[in-house]
Amino acid sequence: MIISRLTAALAAFALSLAPAFAAEARAPLTIVIHGGAGALEPGRYTPAEEAEYKQKLKEALNTGYAVLESGGSSLDAVEAAIVLMEDSPLFNAGKGAVFTREGKNELDASIMDGKTLKAGAIAGVTHVKNPVKLARAVMDHSEHVMFAREGAEEFAREQHIEMVKPKYFFTEARWRGYKDALAAEKKKGASLPVDFKYGTVGALALDAEGNLAAATSTGGMTLKRFGRVGDTPIIGAGTFADNKSCAVSSTGWGEFFMRLTIARDVCAQVEYAGKSVKDAAHDVIHNRLQSAGGDGGVIVLAPNGDYVMDFNSAGMFRGVKQEGGEAKVAIYGE
Ligand code: GLY
Repeated sequence: MIISRLTAALAAFALSLAPAFAAEARAPLTIVIHGGAGALEPGRYTPAEEAEYKQKLKEALNTGYAVLESGGSSLDAVEAAIVLMEDSPLFNAGKGAVFTREGKNELDASIMDGKTLKAGAIAGVTHVKNPVKLARAVMDHSEHVMFAREGAEEFAREQHIEMVKPKYFFTEARWRGYKDALAAEKKKGASLPVDFKYGTVGALALDAEGNLAAATSTGGMTLKRFGRVGDTPIIGAGTFADNKSCAVSSTGWGEFFMRLTIARDVCAQVEYAGKSVKDAAHDVIHNRLQSAGGDGGVIVLAPNGDYVMDFNSAGMFRGVKQEGGEAKVAIYGE
């Protein structure tokens, strides 16, 4: 009798501890972002400009993290972080997108759910304020994965996604970059100026349920030809997420990221070769991308909360916030 009462008391005590142990066993809530890679050498920006970029990166991290902290999904967290960067004129996505050869803005985006492997992507839209929201709507409310151009915009209207006039995306700084790129091209006779032609925003998150998500959004490359689509909306190149391996968002010279299916390659190395996300990202960026002649970077997040932000360009706008820690951001190769 005494023994059975003791056993029951011990069992009740163990049960009361269970939630605490479960919380400890859970991987840490994590959000990782990038704001584009490229020729980002120290001295490129004034201290005031650097502070502005860092502030916006922190805001994006905190916005995404707040979603995770309140029990929201990794998909909602990455979408919220990207919307904030799309709305900022600082990054090459949404407002502040680079100009095509014809002086227009054509936007690409994608999102992927690591739990279900569902994905949504859009390419070449010109009136959608937040391309990532449309990519999410494609994933959630259509039977397809990708819509392009007029078809994407027709779907956006059906889904009551906010539309804007093309001039909404205009910024003086990007217009100057476009004019400078045209002038440099004329002078050198080169097809594309080699300076900062990339820039993309991306976010990865790990939520309390242990689910990964990834999303990426971009204006593409300065002087891209009408209809050119880069890696950003290509699942497996610009974006990938699978709870079995990792989540990835890419930034860089899209043509190389497409040919090498960079995002999927990182996760395939984790899944099939048993590599850590750090080793897989290192191989893909510093061996495969490098030897192919491409440049840029990736952010990668594992289901256990391990993450890496790796690049072979001079710099990459990037940041991370993990449970129990502050938002950390960086720009250069430090
Ligand atoms: N990585 C962006 C692009 O090439 O379009």
